[in-house]
Amino acid sequence: MFPVTASLFLLFFRTSRVVDRPTSVCLHATHPVSDSLVTSTTTTTAPTNGNRSRPSPNAPDTIARTIARLGRQGKTDAALDLWASVDRAHATIRQLNAAVDACARARPARVTHALGLVETARTLAGPVPNVYTFGALMSVLARAGKAEQAVAWLDTMQDKYGVTPNQVVYHAAISACSKADPPRVDMAMDLLERATRTEGLTLTVVGYNAAVSAAARAGDADVAIRLLQRMETEPALPKPDAVTYGTVLSACAKTFRWNELLHYAARMQERGFGLDTLAATSMLHACQELGLAAQALHVLELCKLDVTYQRRTAGWLVAGRKQPLHGPDAVVYRLVITACARGGAWQDALRVLREYIEVQPERATSEDDVAVYTAAMGALAHAGEWKQAFFLLEQMRKRAIVPNESTFVALLAACATAMILRS
Ligand SMILES: *[C@@H]1O[C@H](CO)[C@@H](O)[C@H](O)[C@H]1NC(C)=O
Ligand SMILES: *[C@@H]1O[C@H](CO)[C@@H](O)[C@H](O)[C@H]1NC(C)=O
Repeated sequence: MFPVTASLFLLFFRTSRVVDRPTSVCLHATHPVSDSLVTSTTTTTAPTNGNRSRPSPNAPDTIARTIARLGRQGKTDAALDLWASVDRAHATIRQLNAAVDACARARPARVTHALGLVETARTLAGPVPNVYTFGALMSVLARAGKAEQAVAWLDTMQDKYGVTPNQVVYHAAISACSKADPPRVDMAMDLLERATRTEGLTLTVVGYNAAVSAAARAGDADVAIRLLQRMETEPALPKPDAVTYGTVLSACAKTFRWNELLHYAARMQERGFGLDTLAATSMLHACQELGLAAQALHVLELCKLDVTYQRRTAGWLVAGRKQPLHGPDAVVYRLVITACARGGAWQDALRVLREYIEVQPERATSEDDVAVYTAAMGALAHAGEWKQAFFLLEQMRKRAIVPNESTFVALLAACATAMILRS
């Protein structure tokens, strides 16, 4: 009897490792891309004809606004066609910038087209690109993750166009490094140095967050943590915000540095930043790995406070950008239950499962249901609560939740553990 029990036991642990491995859920960082570019491009030039009462549809500013609007609506072809239809001799810089911006907003970003627009502007008659043009161009390169090209254009814009890069241009260039595949941490750090030391620019938290994101995405938690520490301590640097902390937490999760993760999560909360989905999920991965049931239950309560993340970064989509928490989701429940399982708190696991069933988090799928129930089954397996395990299986049947192989492995493991505990 014993060898069978033992092999079931082993089977359970082997499977549960696979099932409970931290998923990439906390690492889907999005990327810093400027929305402020468009605001800048559409507010720089004042109307010139003096008749504001009824602008003609052919007025240059009306055309520029239309190109920008089409770009924002994702009608890239219409936006670019409209730009192409404008007589080059009368084209304005606002129209050009709106066209480049439309390339940045396209999915995927239209790199070749944007570069063509800027290069043509230099060789043919037409508006002379300004710093907003390059802000928009960098945004195109950032969205496409073209780090080398972004860095090359920092030189080109100065040498060939006589335009000095500003803060926004650097922010976008750094996010290009973060978005690159693989992320270019060294380049991002060089750009930070170059912008601040060489060019004397003051980068905001957006630029620094892009560099932290590059490190996080590259799995270089040391660089991410060092940069956070500098932001916390050096007065010349912007103070870290919730995005900075959230990104560092995901870097720690990616590199399995659970204790440090909880340390920075505590620091984040001390500084008054609410938990967002990304931070909560990262913390729960740590609780799950370390079997910290009580702390996981605490994070679950925090998730229920429905913290809405404050956007501090002027319309930028920043790495690991916070989604407002609308209560815990299925992933949160699964992680809390697994943390309870590993922490030996099977009654808590069942209580959280009951809560999950009552709450029925938005967007929870039937797969989520199986995963949450299987996590609870895992708690009973750890505790050898085989009767409860069969009761849970019956409950699944009643609710038409179809158990899968992992659920049965956990059920068998509950029996196996019970036999071991009894002998
Ligand atoms: C402004 O446009 C309106 C309508 O097109 C026109 O009647 C009016 O004379 C214009 N005024 C000036 C100052 O151009
Ligand atoms: C069982 O279902 C859960 C949730 O969908 C899934 O994560 C797990 O991988 C499945 N196990 C197997 C062995 O298919």
